[in-house]
Amino acid sequence: MEEKMAQRVRFGIIGCGRIAYKHAEAIMGLAEAQLVAVCDIVPERAGEFGTKYGAEPYLDYREMLERAGLDVITIATPSDLHAEIGIVAARAGKHVLVEKPMAMTLASADALIEACSAAGVKLGVIHQNRFNKAIKLTRQAVEQGRFGKLTHGQATVRWTRDDNYYAQAPWRGTRLQDGGVLMNQSIHNIDLLQWMFGPVESVFGYTATNLRKIEMEDVGVAALKFKSGALGVIEASSTIYPKNIEETLNIFGESGSVIVGGIAVNRIECWEFPGADSEKQEIISRQESDPPSVYGFGHRELIADMIRAIWEDRLPAVPGEEGRKALEIILAIYKCQRTGQPVYLPLKED
Ligand SMILES: NC(=O)c1ccc[n+]([C@@H]2O[C@H](COP(=O)([O-])OP(=O)(O)OC[C@H]3O[C@@H](n4cnc5c(N)ncnc54)[C@H](O)[C@@H]3O)[C@@H](O)[C@H]2O)c1
Repeated sequence: MEEKMAQRVRFGIIGCGRIAYKHAEAIMGLAEAQLVAVCDIVPERAGEFGTKYGAEPYLDYREMLERAGLDVITIATPSDLHAEIGIVAARAGKHVLVEKPMAMTLASADALIEACSAAGVKLGVIHQNRFNKAIKLTRQAVEQGRFGKLTHGQATVRWTRDDNYYAQAPWRGTRLQDGGVLMNQSIHNIDLLQWMFGPVESVFGYTATNLRKIEMEDVGVAALKFKSGALGVIEASSTIYPKNIEETLNIFGESGSVIVGGIAVNRIECWEFPGADSEKQEIISRQESDPPSVYGFGHRELIADMIRAIWEDRLPAVPGEEGRKALEIILAIYKCQRTGQPVYLPLKED
């Protein structure tokens, strides 16, 4: 491992749009990583992005995979391309970090997981909020059994994305390439809810397109029943007037209540356990301020974890099987909307 650690891990980014900058900054901030190549089908984007970060620009990701001598590729293209590109990269022997959602269908998520496993490469899904301090503390409390029996929880995303946001790129808000506010914006919080509560037994939900001019939902609500017997609520909207208000996770149990709020599940707002008053004061006095954007602070730590996973030959913190879970819940909500019936997991895709 020491030999491996002596060499910086070589990253390439595919898709040089909005979120790619967050990845490039995070890679540049890690001494053990190097951004070597970037790719976009729009030449100006690849060129500008490559120049900004001193990386070789490519217009064809297959050529980049062949020529750039990469260890890891980060996929930040429109969501429908994630699995397809990830499979090609895995077959070329590259470790894969894929933006959320990891795929648009369970079949393509499974194909990506299978391709990475067959090629012996790591597959990490970008759910950076798992690295928020407040979320790590909450997860630790769950693991330590401090809530006693978990009773119920809620994942709330009250954000705004106006028509200009959806008009920025033709793939946004579409059924085949993006999904709506559940699949795009709220998948992180749905991931956190299921991470805290465990496997889901059944789902019932509604979606609606109330304000935005998009194919998929700008509002979604759902009720979940977890296998443990606990219940969950999802509320997601990109219609909030006039700006993002909150991304909040609530967890309640017989001996604990936690609310993580802030703009992007970054701040403990309620921390109640028996005899935990001074702990609560300590946590609240030392917490992070709101991040500058809803993307949060977690990308760097997630990428650092991926590098350690490669060096230590272990699973990354959010492997493909984990990324698949929130995808399945959202696809189940979409199925409820189509059929008007509750959906029992595992989901059988149409
Ligand atoms: N983790 C997060 O918090 C977070 C935040 C925003 C977006 N995302 C995800 O990241 C992905 C990209 O989102 P975005 O907002 O940056 O989109 P974007 O439209 O701004 O950027 C996507 C880029 O991919 C390029 N592209 C398309 N096809 C390509 C191909 N075949 N090869 C190379 N490049 C190609 C486009 O030209 C574009 O520049 C989406 O899947 C989205 O869900 C994640």
